[in-house]
Amino acid sequence: MKNDSMAIRPLLALGFIFCISLPIVFSLVQSQQVQAKKFCWFDNCNQHQNQKQNTTEQKLRRIAYYESWASRRPCSAFHPFQVNADEYTHINFAFALVDEEGRVNLSSPNDTDLYNELKHLREQQTSKTSPQLWIVVGGFGVSSVPFSKMASANASRAAFVDSALQFVEKYDFDGLDLDWEYPGAKDKGGNDADKADLVLLLEEMKPRFEQKGKGLSLTVPGSEYYMTGFDLKGIEPHIDWINVMSYDLHGPWDAPPVLRPHTNLTEINTSIQTIKKAVPAEKINLGLAYYGHTFVLSNSSCTTPGCPSSGAGKKGNCSLEAGTLINSEIEDLLSTHHVKITFDHDDAVKYFVLDDEWMTYDDNETIGLKEEYAVQQGLGTFIWAVDMGRP
Ligand SMILES: *[C@@H]1O[C@H](CO)[C@@H](O)[C@H](O)[C@H]1NC(C)=O
Ligand SMILES: *[C@@H]1O[C@H](CO)[C@@H](O)[C@H](O)[C@H]1NC(C)=O
Ligand SMILES: *[C@@H]1O[C@H](CO)[C@@H](O)[C@H](O)[C@H]1NC(C)=O
Ligand SMILES: *[C@@H]1O[C@H](CO)[C@@H](O)[C@H](O)[C@H]1NC(C)=O
Ligand SMILES: *[C@@H]1O[C@H](CO)[C@@H](O)[C@H](O)[C@H]1NC(C)=O
Ligand SMILES: *[C@@H]1O[C@H](CO)[C@@H](O)[C@H](O)[C@H]1NC(C)=O
Ligand SMILES: *[C@@H]1O[C@H](CO)[C@@H](O)[C@H](O)[C@H]1NC(C)=O
Ligand SMILES: *[C@@H]1O[C@H](CO)[C@@H](O)[C@H](O)[C@H]1NC(C)=O
Ligand SMILES: *[C@@H]1O[C@H](CO)[C@@H](O)[C@H](O)[C@H]1NC(C)=O
Repeated sequence: MKNDSMAIRPLLALGFIFCISLPIVFSLVQSQQVQAKKFCWFDNCNQHQNQKQNTTEQKLRRIAYYESWASRRPCSAFHPFQVNADEYTHINFAFALVDEEGRVNLSSPNDTDLYNELKHLREQQTSKTSPQLWIVVGGFGVSSVPFSKMASANASRAAFVDSALQFVEKYDFDGLDLDWEYPGAKDKGGNDADKADLVLLLEEMKPRFEQKGKGLSLTVPGSEYYMTGFDLKGIEPHIDWINVMSYDLHGPWDAPPVLRPHTNLTEINTSIQTIKKAVPAEKINLGLAYYGHTFVLSNSSCTTPGCPSSGAGKKGNCSLEAGTLINSEIEDLLSTHHVKITFDHDDAVKYFVLDDEWMTYDDNETIGLKEEYAVQQGLGTFIWAVDMGRP
């Protein structure tokens, strides 16, 4: 995930943004527990059967990420008040930064206006459907550098934890989603000590957050490559859940670029099975992409997965990122052009050719298959991102 205030756009340019969160069954609990902002899982809910509300009040965990820069798009701009809040259990605001001193801070001073719109949404809802608001700290644009530095020493970790909790309390968020991309990734400024340092950091954060009734989650990549920097077994006790970025698995940034869907369910399943060995399903959220990737064809008669590409397709008129189109842009293209869409049911992806480009994306049918998969596997879900249009 990226931060455009750093002139880096969300998913596209470098393309390894994975936010897969698997929404899991999330039970809203009795009102006094809700006030205490505690979380109730399958098992602990059963232990407290007498406190549990009627099952009609149980909701699947379904998180919506919101990108602050969506409010400033030249077209298809999207403001927090446009979020259909009763569809989601949580709204995650992307992003807040880690500054040079290793402290959490605003990405832009104007973000507080967007926070206020979100709080208005939260307050409008009845307590039964009110989504929680979480702040996402980091993102693809921040890289590993400030995290690696901060996590490497006891004093700077402690200062980060203090600033994180202060930030969450000051702006009245219900939790914090840590988006360190990625511990141990040398190409992103990480180092070998990160893996153990991340566990220490979360171990120190969790009791402080819990004491204040605040949630704590972690985003993890959907690719096996970047996953090697995460000690999932060590992390698992110290987080409420992880959001698995099950997208951007392939893209025009690959070397060499090859036509491939970025949300191939067969590949996603492989990652999820690995993660499930360390993290119980009810703590995993599966990421659903509300955008697609575009590739320029190298050979106009070779248009199937595996064919060569010469790189990223043209940027969209609103999202302005070469190689990526958000769903509202794809929908515009499909409504104004006649194309032949291929639906690969097994891999739960769609793609088509338009002029000299190959485009792969998710729509309501492929998202539906991925949601079914999440239910079968006992996972929650999250969407990246709610501002990109409907699937
Ligand atoms: C749950 O609430 C619904 C609607 O209020 C009601 O119709 C239903 O009978 C309740 N179920 C249980 C098990 O209490
Ligand atoms: C946080 O950001 C604000 C606004 O961008 C800035 O004025 C302030 O100095 C920053 N705080 C710290 C502790 O860096
Ligand atoms: C912040 O708000 C001010 C005043 O409305 C505006 O001039 C400025 O362009 C905004 N900055 C960003 C980054 O949106
Ligand atoms: C840093 O923290 C670790 C773990 O809590 C502790 O074992 C170690 O003694 C601390 N080191 C220093 C220099 O304070
Ligand atoms: C999806 O991934 C599987 C496993 O890597 C692969 O066999 C299949 O060809 C992929 N599907 C597409 C459409 O690329
Ligand atoms: C996911 O992988 C498991 C284990 O290999 C397999 O049993 C299951 O059928 C796969 N599901 C999908 C949807 O690919
Ligand atoms: C273009 O693709 C077609 C179909 O796969 C293939 O027969 C042809 O050899 C390719 N042309 C070149 C120049 O690679
Ligand atoms: C951008 O707008 C132009 C002019 O309306 C249109 O021809 C083109 O298809 C649009 N591009 C995309 C990616 O939507
Ligand atoms: C998907 O959307 C299309 C167009 O709005 C609609 O015709 C179709 O029934 C939907 N399919 C599913 C599975 O929701």
